[in-house]
Amino acid sequence: MGYAEMAVFGEAAPYLRRPERERIETQNRPFDAKTAVFVVDPKELFVKGTLQSKEGSKAIAKTNAGQVVTVKDNEVFPMNPPKFDKIEDMAMMTHLNEAAVLYNLKERYAAWMIYTYSGLFCVTVNPYKRLPVYKQEVVVAYRGKKRQEAPPHIFSISDNAYQFMLTDRENQSILITGESGAGKTVNTKRVIQYFATIAGSGDRKKDISPSGKLHGNLEDQIISANPLLEAFGNAKTVRNDNSSRFGKFIRIHFGTSGKLSSADIETYLLEKSRVTFQLAAERSYHIFYQIMSNKKPELIETLLITTNPYDYPFISQGEICVASIDDSEELMATDSAIDILGFTGEERIGIYKLTGAVMHYGNMKFKQKQREEQAEPDGTEVADKAAYLMGLNSADLLKVYNSIGALAKSVYEKMFLWMVLRINQMLDTKQPRQFFIGVLDIAGFEIFDFNSLEQLCINFTNEKLQQFFNHHMFVLEQEEYKKEGIEWEFIDFGMDLAACIGLIEKVSSNSYVLSQACTCKKKNHPLLNSQWASSPSLKKNVCFPRHQTPPSKTSCMTNILENPTTSRNPSLSKARQRHTFPWCTMLASWTTASQAG
Ligand SMILES: Nc1ncnc2c1ncn2[C@@H]1O[C@H](COP(=O)(O)OP(=O)(O)OP(=O)(O)O)[C@@H](O)[C@H]1O
Ligand SMILES: [Mg+2]
Repeated sequence: MGYAEMAVFGEAAPYLRRPERERIETQNRPFDAKTAVFVVDPKELFVKGTLQSKEGSKAIAKTNAGQVVTVKDNEVFPMNPPKFDKIEDMAMMTHLNEAAVLYNLKERYAAWMIYTYSGLFCVTVNPYKRLPVYKQEVVVAYRGKKRQEAPPHIFSISDNAYQFMLTDRENQSILITGESGAGKTVNTKRVIQYFATIAGSGDRKKDISPSGKLHGNLEDQIISANPLLEAFGNAKTVRNDNSSRFGKFIRIHFGTSGKLSSADIETYLLEKSRVTFQLAAERSYHIFYQIMSNKKPELIETLLITTNPYDYPFISQGEICVASIDDSEELMATDSAIDILGFTGEERIGIYKLTGAVMHYGNMKFKQKQREEQAEPDGTEVADKAAYLMGLNSADLLKVYNSIGALAKSVYEKMFLWMVLRINQMLDTKQPRQFFIGVLDIAGFEIFDFNSLEQLCINFTNEKLQQFFNHHMFVLEQEEYKKEGIEWEFIDFGMDLAACIGLIEKVSSNSYVLSQACTCKKKNHPLLNSQWASSPSLKKNVCFPRHQTPPSKTSCMTNILENPTTSRNPSLSKARQRHTFPWCTMLASWTTASQAG
């Protein structure tokens, strides 16, 4: 595709491919292939320079800034000729080295070209600003084009998956991976937008539900699942104002002719600890602050709450406002998603009430019984409010005094899982399904000063996925080369954490010790001194540090032990059995479905 044909991309064209004029200009730039190099630099990582000489294991180079440096000979990397500048597929480079890859991505990013291919992968750099590259005309322009026929884009990846599905008659999956804040969720939404546009019914008619509310069509419903799940499963973290605190695998199902037929969502590892605890620079789940924005005053009244988050300790340990988020606007988006998806009026209010109950829990007060180690309720006013919202008897609720945090987390998690279940029921149209395209968007890898067991699980999942990815994309590919008799030197592609993964995976021993330790919650638990915790691999990698100094064994493991016992509390289970709506309906359907599953 020449630049003249780029007109179909409209306003997006300059963000997708560099202009012809620039390509010609760079080609004419003087270049000496023998001496043009990248040199390691303590500040910039790599800088451009000219190789002056090589003696033994040393190399002398002059940087473009005029500094003469002596480095190891493996710290200078050959540069690609100018015709490769801002290349769209980095697999085409003559010299494929880290410096050349980073330089290319940086140059493209400087021109706001955020998508670049690297062989089979599409690399994306977060622009942190709205680019006109996802407009309807761009969707249309990518439709039906082969990968090499158009500039790199997530739409091209999506369209190719769709075409392969139809021609090979095989299910496809798109794996989106990267650190927290990299743009996984944004790109996942773009993939879904693409399929909703190209394979949707296009019928904008809305159905009227039995409750008289407007439901969206399937495309609208698939798209609406995101704002709802994000309101309850995303939060501001140190690295991302809208960080997904759960993983999801969305399957979009298509009929034989390639039309959308239904969808379903699987979620993983919702970070429950956030419901009762936040770091100073973070926030709990968006929904709490959306409700308190007072955009819908009737909710404040129904939930018996105030509009001041500081009145609720569970949700006000960190920040309460996020500059980039308008909580009132987001509340309207959440509420409209609930309608489009087709929740009933009773379910809708049930969701809000349970959220309100969780907020009240943090205010329940207990005092020590005289001459006893046990605690007893100190007043019933708050419990009365929470019990009313949950449809429970307040006396039953007060029996869970030693597990109020566990109750909050458990109620919140079960409500979240119940919502996913209901969303899946609504996205299941019963239309015939032939194939699916799956999109995996997991919670990003992170290292905090305080690493909970949940963070260990998230990091473990990321590492495991990365190993799977490396294995399939590189190791198996190399074996294919060998089979074909291609001369090839085997390269170890980042399987260095395999030992640590193996260690944690030894479920029978390690998980048991860990769960025992978490149950006892003793800071000096024998686990901390165990052989397992002292193993060099775990010491180094339990938090899977990549770019930071590993936290000490003790701090890391102690934090893991902070994970509280969940809701296996007899009083709590009894309380659950004597409930009315909404707790009852939600939990009952969740339990039945999860048992069936
Ligand atoms: N393509 C894009 N265009 C514009 N802004 C983007 C794009 N990708 C990401 N962003 C910005 O970066 C923010 C973080 O992106 P996103 O939430 O997708 O990260 P993530 O990889 O899902 O992180 P986490 O693992 O924390 O969930 C978004 O809220 C958005 O502001
Ligand atoms: Mg995300």
